[in-house]
Amino acid sequence: MSLIDDIRERRDISRDELERILTTDNKESIEELRRQAREVATEVYGNKIFMRGLIELSSHCKNDCLYCGLRRSNTTAVRYRLSDDDIYSCCASGYQLGFRTFVMQGGEDGWFDDSRMCRIVANVRKQYPDCAITLSLGERSRDSYQALFDAGANRYLLRHETASPEHYARLHPAEMSWQHRIDALWTLKEIGYQVGCGFMVGSPYQTVDTLYADLQFIRQLQPQMVGIGPFISAHDTPFAGFPNGKVSDTLRLLAIIRLLHPHVLLPATTALGTLHPQGRELGIQFGANVVMPNLSPKDHRKDYSIYDNKICTGEEAAECRACTEGRIRKIGFETVVDRGDYKG
Ligand code: 5AD
Ligand code: FES
Repeated sequence: MSLIDDIRERRDISRDELERILTTDNKESIEELRRQAREVATEVYGNKIFMRGLIELSSHCKNDCLYCGLRRSNTTAVRYRLSDDDIYSCCASGYQLGFRTFVMQGGEDGWFDDSRMCRIVANVRKQYPDCAITLSLGERSRDSYQALFDAGANRYLLRHETASPEHYARLHPAEMSWQHRIDALWTLKEIGYQVGCGFMVGSPYQTVDTLYADLQFIRQLQPQMVGIGPFISAHDTPFAGFPNGKVSDTLRLLAIIRLLHPHVLLPATTALGTLHPQGRELGIQFGANVVMPNLSPKDHRKDYSIYDNKICTGEEAAECRACTEGRIRKIGFETVVDRGDYKG
């Protein structure tokens, strides 16, 4: 039995097996990893790839994460906020384009306080009862998460960034707490959200041990979604001089996560598409089953600049959707725009 068969059957991996997979340059074993991860994804979700419409609400952020182009210390970042009406028109065009999941994402921006955000969620919920509402607004209080859930939100994405407290401390300023981030994820789960955690691949100071800790954390949390993409250096941040994460490491980790968690919703991220012209297609071939075309208004796209050279910043929502769909069809998969709920 091969190593990959074994991992697939056990749905578990040791630290040393992880290291072997990440360091091998044996093309056949990587191809076997890819084939088996895709096979597992296809067993659960067929050849369907779920599309979610992404709406980037705000480029303001009170945090100062060392990797992020939107960190508050970055005085060259262009800041914008969508108005309520901007958001509703994004949803309207998204709905028209067939999207049945709206992902509202933004920096941690006090402007989008509970009263504003609950109003927006409640209105979208009322207007589109058949749609899933996913939020990705960073760390908020339990009461806030509860109020947003009660207003109609279903899912919440909050990457844990790293399961190692020491590593977390090197990626974030001292005022940010690893424990607070981890607690937030457990709170979201308790409230009843479908949750997504995740991390960057190749972030500064990441090691096989921190990655192994990430996999163990995912096993504990049992999230419905896991968002991973390569670290991409962002100008005017403290990590501007660090090398980008590797596409090949990202693909291997996507495949490993698929083998360990056959049912998980796993996006082929924009960051992966940014580092390789076929990055998202490769992601799907390595077991990803979600893509998130951009629905944000075109005039603000380029300003949601968490890393450099982000793709999809020049296209209208319809173009972005058509482009994504075409790419996926070309590699033999079918895009679906229904809610695409977790199959637990
Ligand atoms: N490169 C890649 N991903 C990044 N993120 C933030 N900055 C970068 C970067 N420079 C990711 C983080 C965050 C998500 C919204 O984007 O993981 O959680
Ligand atoms: Fe924006 Fe970290 S700087 S989430």
